[in-house]
Amino acid sequence: MEKKVILIVEDDPTVGESLGLLLKKKGHDILLASNGKEALQLLRHKVVDLVITDVVMPKMDGIELLEAVKGLRPETEVIVISAQGTIEKAVQAMKWGAFDFIEKPINPRIISLLVERALEKQTLILQNQNLRSRLEDKYHFKNIIGRSKKMVKIFELIRHIAPYDSSVLIIGESGTGKELIANAIHYKSPRASMSFIKVSCASLSEGIIESELFGHEKGAFTGAIASRKGRFELAHQGTLFLDEVGDIPPATQIKLLRVLQEGEFERVGGNKTIKVNIRIIAASNRDLQEEVKKGAFREDLYYRLNVVNIKLPALKERRDDIPFLVHFFIERYNEKYRMKVRGISQKAMNFLTDYEWTGNVRELENTIESILVINSPGVIDIQHLPQEIRDMKEKPEVIPIKIGTSLEEVEKEMLIQTLKATNGNKRKAARLLGINVRTIHRKIEEIQELASTS
Ligand SMILES: Nc1ncnc2c1ncn2[C@@H]1O[C@H](COP(=O)(O)OP(=O)(O)O)[C@@H](O)[C@H]1O
Ligand SMILES: [Mg+2]
Repeated sequence: MEKKVILIVEDDPTVGESLGLLLKKKGHDILLASNGKEALQLLRHKVVDLVITDVVMPKMDGIELLEAVKGLRPETEVIVISAQGTIEKAVQAMKWGAFDFIEKPINPRIISLLVERALEKQTLILQNQNLRSRLEDKYHFKNIIGRSKKMVKIFELIRHIAPYDSSVLIIGESGTGKELIANAIHYKSPRASMSFIKVSCASLSEGIIESELFGHEKGAFTGAIASRKGRFELAHQGTLFLDEVGDIPPATQIKLLRVLQEGEFERVGGNKTIKVNIRIIAASNRDLQEEVKKGAFREDLYYRLNVVNIKLPALKERRDDIPFLVHFFIERYNEKYRMKVRGISQKAMNFLTDYEWTGNVRELENTIESILVINSPGVIDIQHLPQEIRDMKEKPEVIPIKIGTSLEEVEKEMLIQTLKATNGNKRKAARLLGINVRTIHRKIEEIQELASTS
């Protein structure tokens, strides 16, 4: 076993020192402290794998220290030494997460064994954490949350294509994370240390988009009082992100195509040819293939951009990501606004997972941020949700039922209509009806059987 650091906390120096000597002989590094306060000071500055602490000590006793250690570094194991008459305290220590306790006088063989077992457990926990953080990297992609099958597939694709210089076209509704993905591709590519330059094609008027992209020479047009580099030049050796590429006017589309094909262009009003080495990532919230069919987007340019195609699903098509996103944004805005919102009630979460989210992740993020800013609740509950989200469920949907209808008929009708209202989602329907999923399956089978026999 590798060398471990053990902190011994004991107010009786003869006990502390002899124990230290024993464990040093077993090959560990030893730190000594004579009370809880001193121990905490050490723990703040040193990495400690195991704490062995006496219970009764001045200033801060062993139980208080244990609590503090578990708060500071939960993976640190703690062994408690109890003197006669403090057995009760030792039992209490076990509840607080102590690894074990040992009675005074300390038996060298027993303490050595306990120490080895505690360190083994600690190593296992650390290995586990390592594994977990590697898994988290797989799912998280740093700041991109996605555990749904669809997103995990996209992450795999990104990892695969990031190293190459091929163009990427990202299609997805507004707020689905296109820019985030474009960023991720750049930072996972060999160009990561060079610039990532963004052009919002939608926000640029036809007149200035060319000068924005390719730059201009002094006097190229009225107002061009100095020459200026365009985004293509700025992105040299890096990545150029063409956001809302579908909004580029046709005249500019031709020029863009030429740059993509030949890697060279001239500034507006200039005649010097400039060569650049750039990777292009383009994004659009419109289906560009449709735009090509309509004649609004050049087909040749489309094929140039669409070497790798990434389709980001709308948030409502990957509802299983919603809870993870909600927690992620609670954490993000807790940090930003120094708040301590602890979480969200299951009921409120159900509202969020069922909502339409036409504005996708951006809308969800804004919703969480505004809940925190406006209410800063301890736990987010239904009353904190914006009206339009609550309305979605509170709007009563009505089924007219004639007097004289049998209860059996009522139940059947209710079941069918609820399933319709939930688009056939049995889990959701069961929740609305207050029954469990197994019951709803059985009832559906009963209705189907009835239908087939009659
Ligand atoms: N999968 C995700 N995980 C975490 N945050 C996300 C995710 N997708 C989008 N966001 C956040 O939502 C907002 C909108 O994302 P953005 O990339 O600008 O979307 P788009 O470019 O498609 O409109 C940003 O604040 C972004 O950080
Ligand atoms: Mg965007």
